[in-house]
Amino acid sequence: AAVTRQPAAEEYRDAIAALPLKQSSTPSRRLLQYKSTWFLEQWVPGTIALHRRFEARAGDIILASLPKCGTTWLKALAFAAAARARYPPGDGDRHPLLRLNPHDCVPFVEVTYNAGEEAKLNAAPSPRLVTTHAPYSVLPTSVTESSSCKIIYICREPKDMLISCWHFLNKHSKYNTMPFSEIWNSIYNGTYYGSPIWEHILGYWNMSKTKSDSVLFLKYEEVLRDPMTNVEKIAEFIGQPFSDAEKEAGIIESIVKLCNFENLKALGVNSKGIHQKLIAEVPSESFFRKGVVGDWVNYVTPDMAERMDEFLAEKFRGSGFSF
Ligand code: A3P
Repeated sequence: AAVTRQPAAEEYRDAIAALPLKQSSTPSRRLLQYKSTWFLEQWVPGTIALHRRFEARAGDIILASLPKCGTTWLKALAFAAAARARYPPGDGDRHPLLRLNPHDCVPFVEVTYNAGEEAKLNAAPSPRLVTTHAPYSVLPTSVTESSSCKIIYICREPKDMLISCWHFLNKHSKYNTMPFSEIWNSIYNGTYYGSPIWEHILGYWNMSKTKSDSVLFLKYEEVLRDPMTNVEKIAEFIGQPFSDAEKEAGIIESIVKLCNFENLKALGVNSKGIHQKLIAEVPSESFFRKGVVGDWVNYVTPDMAERMDEFLAEKFRGSGFSF
């Protein structure tokens, strides 16, 4: 029989009350530390539920990222590739991505638990395609010890990630305007969502090296430079490689075209209205801003950039990872 669960915030109330807290200049941006990682308070109940309750099924595909690293795009690309038999990407105007925001096609596990919608996760047909902003260390063992779960991580050059985040938060109805220095310093003082970000990145990076069948590590900049190769990589990784016939029919191009920044941004569903499925309401258009590499040059001085680069290079030293 189905067990009715309380929404995660109620269920974990006591555990949450005991977590270390960091204030922010914006009252609705408080951070809590769970399992050595700083999360936006509103995401914590769902994150705890992910850790304690999410039961991976064979073949589940889990997309993972820090916020503002290309999550929305990865959702679109992975969904279009994984569901291509049911929804051919070049098939007129019937594709779900033409009428649904990518966040509605591929849910965040945390958001789903937070909303008390665990039943939806359980009812989704296999293989499930879901997303998380949690670090590898918070994923449940049913995911990390599975031999058939697939994790795809996307990272992005942090200066661009910060600029993207600043714009995003400033479009948030609840967060009001955030001083630029606060977002810039969030890397240094560990208040960026998912901090420390180097541990978030290295957790997945290291696993992509030791368990390359289970973890695929992508970079936003590389996907942007060569989307075709990366879509092919994604399809192969999830065990659905493109056949020669599909390649000849141009299906990879169709997926890239469907998920192209300008294409998605221009759609009614992504350009008008408010997106309510995340933990706070955000204008739908805020997921699609500029979609370029190197926009940070328009916001910070070369000195600020250099200091950030050096600080991070130190954190990644010896890991084999660089941006
Ligand atoms: P910018 O703010 O730099 O434009 P996330 O999806 O993780 O929130 O990341 C958002 C960033 O990805 C934004 O970056 C957004 O414009 C960009 N983005 C969204 N859809 C994209 C797409 N289809 N192609 C390339 N970039 C995309």
